[in-house]
Amino acid sequence: MRTYLVTGGAGFIGSNYIHYMFGKYGDRIRIINVDALTYAGNLENLKDVENRENYTFVKADICDKGAISEIFAQNEIDRVVHFAAESHVDRSIRDPEVFVRTNVLGTAVMLNCAKAAWELPDGSFQEGKKFLHVSTDEVYGSLPEDDNAFFYETTPYDPHSPYSASKASSDLLVKSYMDTYHFPANITNCSNNYGPYQFPEKLIPLIINNALQGKKLPVYGDGRNVRDWLFVEDHVRAIDMVQEKGRLFETYNIGGHNEKQNIEIIRIILEALQEMLPANDPRRAYVKEDLITYVEDRKGHDRRYAIAPDKIRAEVGWEPETMFQEGIRKTIRWFFENEDWMKNVTSGGYQKYYDEMYGGRKQIGENR
Ligand code: NAD
Ligand code: DAU
Repeated sequence: MRTYLVTGGAGFIGSNYIHYMFGKYGDRIRIINVDALTYAGNLENLKDVENRENYTFVKADICDKGAISEIFAQNEIDRVVHFAAESHVDRSIRDPEVFVRTNVLGTAVMLNCAKAAWELPDGSFQEGKKFLHVSTDEVYGSLPEDDNAFFYETTPYDPHSPYSASKASSDLLVKSYMDTYHFPANITNCSNNYGPYQFPEKLIPLIINNALQGKKLPVYGDGRNVRDWLFVEDHVRAIDMVQEKGRLFETYNIGGHNEKQNIEIIRIILEALQEMLPANDPRRAYVKEDLITYVEDRKGHDRRYAIAPDKIRAEVGWEPETMFQEGIRKTIRWFFENEDWMKNVTSGGYQKYYDEMYGGRKQIGENR
């Protein structure tokens, strides 16, 4: 039975990955999920798998070399899928150091422990061992507003935020292990994800949550920054396909050609909420464009991201399956059906974060 060591499995994409993998492979695989349970990690995301015999949760920090090497010593790990990271750009602008620690040092520890466990006396690696580093398109920087400009695997790195600089550094560390030791790894660079279990600091869940509560919908700058949105299930399926069918030592970009301006996203969400709220639901009265509020821009705000997924399509056979209009409705339905999840994650620390992040942000206009 193949054993996966998943880091950050209690977060948004990691928990979707674990659900996907058990859905696909059932009892044919074993998953060990190592997560430090920061504000972004939530074991509620994994309630329906926690009693499986082929699932183990270990609460540990990926920077803790002793704890990580112990996991490798106690288990025959075949695959590492490395999600754990500090992931929110706005937080990185306020507090960069924890991003360097987790994203750079944590990745170095993961690489080092996997290398120590998998390396043979002659410097080669045990057959079949693979490390997949989950990364982001933000490492490539910002694209011009030109429909023909895309991020390719060959695009030079040009990160701007402390978050993307730390992810770029972690990618380079993985590349250095591949180049120096011939360490069996892949890197995937994915565009913006959305879907179930996403923490409401990110645009889509924040807008859904605020709109349902009649709170203002904060739009940074002119609202015309472009992101390339991908339903999370398409991302986790791509990760599995890269480990199964991709060539080792290669980088694969993952994205679905679904570029949208932020303001478009907000309007689509409002429209879908209006359509999906029951006719007698009192929230229909205020879920409207009047809630849109333009606020001071994010510092160093990248203008446009857009992935060219040509390589993963050609070599791995991956294609996105969920179109945005369908994915956003699935996401909203999930939030409707999981109101307690939202209540739990927004109690306590979230309110403090929200006040700090948005309380001091200058409002620069109403709906326009
Ligand atoms: P997330 O913030 O929802 O989850 C991160 C998880 O990592 C949490 O469970 C957290 O507890 C855990 N973690 C944080 N620090 C840790 C540490 N020191 N030790 C152990 N665990 C720790 O993030 P996400 O959105 O699920 O992103 C997962 C990965 O995918 C990240 O590497 C991110 O850079 C990458 N990525 C995210 C997106 C996106 O749109 N969200 C897109 C492309 C790539
Ligand atoms: O591109 C992949 C990246 O996507 C991932 O690597 C990151 O982990 C993930 O957080 C995401 O980064 P973004 O900064 O693009 O996502 P975020 O949801 O924070 O913001 C999306 C866009 O919406 C961005 O242009 C900023 C804008 N925004 C965001 C928030 C939270 C607003 O206008 N208002 C908001 O309140």
